[in-house]
Amino acid sequence: MDNDKTSDGGVKFYTLEDVRVHNMINDTWLIIHDKVYDISKFLEEHPGGEEVLLEQGGADATESFEDVGHSSDAREMLQQYYIGELHVVRKVHFPHKHAWKSIKLVCYTVIRVIMRVIT
Ligand code: HEM
Repeated sequence: MDNDKTSDGGVKFYTLEDVRVHNMINDTWLIIHDKVYDISKFLEEHPGGEEVLLEQGGADATESFEDVGHSSDAREMLQQYYIGELHVVRKVHFPHKHAWKSIKLVCYTVIRVIMRVIT
């Protein structure tokens, strides 16, 4: 399924769904800072052990990668496993959603005032 993704100047884009299935030994992908890495061949070499990488397999490991405070050497190593970019689907802004929230708030307030007056 990964062969038919749109490419932009040779850069491959993967969706979260594409990445998610690569979550096992010998087939492990990770997302770090919106970039996708195939780290299948790195698992055994990782100084922090393969367990932690497998736990993050198929997912966004940005937070755990940063939490560890990896060295600049570690960041450079990333490059050799780079396979493409995460296709980020930005959230669409829905003004109606906020309008609906305000309407609900007004209704609650009116009902509370009425209740206070009649009880
Ligand atoms: C492909 C991505 C990764 C690369 C290239 C990488 C590389 C490295 C390298 C080179 C070190 C040695 C220390 C350093 O230079 O900073 C290290 C240590 C470590 N890494 Fe990673 N790492 C990656 C992803 C992760 C992730 C996602 C986690 C956590 C879930 C993690 C957890 C650790 C831990 C706990 C250590 C410390 C090991 C120790 O000091 O005993 N790493 N990593």
